[in-house]
Amino acid sequence: MQGSATAHLAFPRTAGGISTSSSKLPNETNMGESTIDWSALGFSYLKTDYRYLSHWKDGQWDAGSLTEDNILHISEGSTALHYGQQCFEGLKAYRCKDGSINLFRPDQNALRMQRSCARLLMPQVPTEQFIEACRQVVKANERFVPPYGSGGALYMRPFVIGVGENIGVRTAPEFIFSVFCIPVGAYFKGGMTPHDFVISGYDRAAPNGTGAAKVGGNYAASLLPGADAKRDGFADCIYLDPASHSKIEEVGSANFFAITQDDEFVTPRSPSVLPGITRLSLMELARDRLGLKVSEGDVHIDQLDRFKEAGACGTAAVITPIGGIQYGDKLHVFHSREDVGPVTQRLYRELTGIQCGDVEAPAGWVVKV
Ligand code: PLP
Ligand code: COI
Repeated sequence: MQGSATAHLAFPRTAGGISTSSSKLPNETNMGESTIDWSALGFSYLKTDYRYLSHWKDGQWDAGSLTEDNILHISEGSTALHYGQQCFEGLKAYRCKDGSINLFRPDQNALRMQRSCARLLMPQVPTEQFIEACRQVVKANERFVPPYGSGGALYMRPFVIGVGENIGVRTAPEFIFSVFCIPVGAYFKGGMTPHDFVISGYDRAAPNGTGAAKVGGNYAASLLPGADAKRDGFADCIYLDPASHSKIEEVGSANFFAITQDDEFVTPRSPSVLPGITRLSLMELARDRLGLKVSEGDVHIDQLDRFKEAGACGTAAVITPIGGIQYGDKLHVFHSREDVGPVTQRLYRELTGIQCGDVEAPAGWVVKV
């Protein structure tokens, strides 16, 4: 099989699905004083000690503070509940070899959340407040940051929701900005092993809709197609462009990239794709560290032979290699279906090395907690 000669990571392929923690982890509950089996982490809710809360009213955000209470008490008329007026972010804190903790490009998450807020007519959280909230949450929950080398990280979930008493379709009178965190391992079962994905017949976003914003409605639209994909044994589904249904857009929870036969890094350009920070980082690393040609462009579903490797990339997904793509009754198999391809491996090492401080980061990418 082409590509396998230089491959170092050879893992068995895994059946699809999002990984949940094993029973060794006290899952979806307050873990009290029990200890975490870091090797058993998947991607499941766990109540950690503190979360950050800030309220917006009368034109401004308050100073914000930490609370142990993980239950929000909000009006039944909240726009977040009826009209999907909410957005969220995902970023991770990584334990380094020297014990310190890195946040990876939190300024980019702050900027994207500001764009999401603008799209949904919500007040923007200033970048400094966003990063400070993340820092406070990491510090207050330091015991949940997985150890260096465990493969885990502390996943931060900032979000803004429209709240307050309202019933008409209009922007909310009040808002909440919150950040909570959970220790996580791999998002897709098996992590850095080739996974098969299936092309969905559904769209997750409209051509001029909210695809580029990280808003809950896009994810609500992806629940049924995602569940269908997992039922059929795939890791998840891949969406085509909503205008022509001929070009790959992204996965419901990650961006798509591929490596051409002559080592070019390609990722879809589309106004309805979420501008991922991992994808942006991989484009920069592929160009500046691996010396590859990089392009954003059309990835036609009937031209997959152009590529020898493909992957899904995102904060939760990190880099999840794609071994095959099912489109109708045909399974397109990449050369790297059995072994992770060499370019994907190099990108993975560079990215994860930067995140946990083992590899020098480009200026501004890492913020110490
Ligand atoms: N696309 C979608 C739909 C996502 O949910 C995510 C995850 O956040 C991504 C792409 C990747 O974005 P990022 O790399 O910023 O996590
Ligand atoms: C992320 O990678 O941060 C995501 O938001 C993906 C998914 C968990 C929704």
